[in-house]
Amino acid sequence: MKIALCGKGGVGKSSLASLLILSFLHAGYKVLAIDADPSPHLARLLEIPQEVTPLAEMMDLLAERAQKSGPYYTLNPKIDDLPEKFAITKDGLRLMVLGAIRTAGGGCACPEQTVLKRLLTYLLLTSKEVVLVDMEAGVEHFGRASVTPMDVLLVITQPLKGSIETTRQILKLAKELGLERVYVIGNKVRTKEQEELLQGEFGDRYLLSFPPDEELERREFEGRGLWTYRGVLFSKAQELREKLTELLHEIT
Ligand SMILES: Nc1ncnc2c1ncn2[C@@H]1O[C@H](COP(=O)(O)OP(=O)(O)OP(=O)(O)O)[C@@H](O)[C@H]1O
Ligand SMILES: [Mg+2]
Repeated sequence: MKIALCGKGGVGKSSLASLLILSFLHAGYKVLAIDADPSPHLARLLEIPQEVTPLAEMMDLLAERAQKSGPYYTLNPKIDDLPEKFAITKDGLRLMVLGAIRTAGGGCACPEQTVLKRLLTYLLLTSKEVVLVDMEAGVEHFGRASVTPMDVLLVITQPLKGSIETTRQILKLAKELGLERVYVIGNKVRTKEQEELLQGEFGDRYLLSFPPDEELERREFEGRGLWTYRGVLFSKAQELREKLTELLHEIT
């Protein structure tokens, strides 16, 4: 199952991505986590102490291997060994960091996105393997369509005007890209009224509400990650994992 999380800046994408990763690991899955945010946080949240070299910094190496045709790199060769070579491993978890996107000025047409898309398309998973991508905030990356190989897109929203508006835009773009399994997850949903607002707005696409939990902010304040967190949001993440495996039972 290939899952991507997206949404407006600061809505809780990386936190919920980490919790979902932990819940899949807890259930015995192998997880490849891909931090596609140019300002990456997953390593910290998942308490991976090693430096994870961003894929973007290996572009020269990748470009060396790739053939150059015109201004573009055709990155056909050697995509398959990337997770082996460039991921940091912790128990059943592998983490890759994409790094900052360089613009076309360098002679490349967003090679990191090309690599990500090819990698996501290439990867064949067994039923006990999951790829989870924590995406860059906002809607811009949808133009690059690296989301198209995903089985499911989770749009994280808070019960606030701004993030609801971004969620609407993402849903519209996802529809244009022909993505079918696109669901909305509420974060920091405090009241029944807020939940009903999101359910009313997004109908059947609305899957689940995550409440606020001060422990997350406390851990953030203390510089701790979420590896040992087993509070209410972990239970919610388990519920989300169960819903996803039910919804996607036909997909491995
Ligand atoms: N349910 C929650 N309860 C309490 N705090 C939360 C919750 N979800 C997220 N937070 C806190 O909100 C802040 C932003 O969360 P996070 O970094 O996960 O958002 P993001 O969408 O990944 O942000 P960015 O767009 O910058 O990548 C963090 O300090 C996090 O600890
Ligand atoms: Mg984030």
